[in-house]
Amino acid sequence: MISYKDLGLVNSKEIFAKAIKGGYAVPAYNFNNLEQLQAIIQACVATKSPVILQVSKGARDYANINLLRNMARGAGEYARELGYDIPIVLHLDHGDSFETCKDCIDNGFSSVMIDGSHLPYEENVALTKKVVEYAHKHDVTVEGELGVLAGIEDEVSHEKSTYTKPEEVVDFVSRTGVDSLAISIGTSHGANKFVPAQCTLNEEGILIPPPLRFDILEEIEKQLPGFPIVLHGSSSVPREYVEKINKYGGKLKDTIGIPEDQLRRAAKSAVCKINIDSDGRLAMTAMVREVLHTKPAEFDPRKYLGPAREELKKMYMHKNTNVLGSANQA
Ligand code: G3H
Ligand code: 13P
Ligand code: ZN
Repeated sequence: MISYKDLGLVNSKEIFAKAIKGGYAVPAYNFNNLEQLQAIIQACVATKSPVILQVSKGARDYANINLLRNMARGAGEYARELGYDIPIVLHLDHGDSFETCKDCIDNGFSSVMIDGSHLPYEENVALTKKVVEYAHKHDVTVEGELGVLAGIEDEVSHEKSTYTKPEEVVDFVSRTGVDSLAISIGTSHGANKFVPAQCTLNEEGILIPPPLRFDILEEIEKQLPGFPIVLHGSSSVPREYVEKINKYGGKLKDTIGIPEDQLRRAAKSAVCKINIDSDGRLAMTAMVREVLHTKPAEFDPRKYLGPAREELKKMYMHKNTNVLGSANQA
């Protein structure tokens, strides 16, 4: 058993309590490799933001849990070396079973998500409760989910979303004992969230997708005052990255993400964790494609992963400062 406390990590309890009070959301950025982790830590230190390092089951398979744990331990030391000690959570994203969650808890994770959202309600309650009972023995925090997001969640793909039912949240939270709740109010996973035909043009000629269901969020907040809410599928799919990827040989569809002003509004509410993965993938891919296209003789990975890391850092700094509001909150 390796405790996260010995790795210099924290669970999500205190940072969520502060985020709700302060009207901001803590960034939860997914990582699978060194450059992504460096960019996240550099950006969060530069903006003095707390951070949740998020590892999917796919990331575990790709990168190895021992390496990921030691990278997270190193991230704390790296942050201090860069000059600022920020709170760091190591979190399992979309845990699919009790065994996966237990394995992460036993391997130094300070927070886990058990995603039973696709199960019948009573099965979701039973599975989530089992994970909470084990996690809380080790002071590890647990995120549950009610409602289904469209898109791909760790190899499970849902074509249609089902909004969270506000009438279920009190029963779910009290019977499971979860520390935070992921909800479905119109976001979805992956880069292909909305097609232009679903959007309307605003006065500035920008395509705006259907708004998030803030009415559902408000109802959930009424039912669970002061309880930490989590928003998955919150990438904004910056057009400049999609255009750059396609300019340099990519074939991405024309796609629209979640507008930043809607995320800002959510962050001011009880939403205290916002999950972003796809935007990081887009930023990295755009830069790698640009370098490989414009400098075809280049074959040193540092020469294309370095610029990708720089762009990622810039993007995360922007999100912390202008979207989530987590800058200067560490
Ligand atoms: O919610 C899903 C995350 O973006 C993780 O994706 O399973 O491809 O690592 P992944
Ligand atoms: P995006 O695909 O919108 O980045 O969402 C990531 C996510 O929710 C990870 O759990
Ligand atoms: Zn997710």
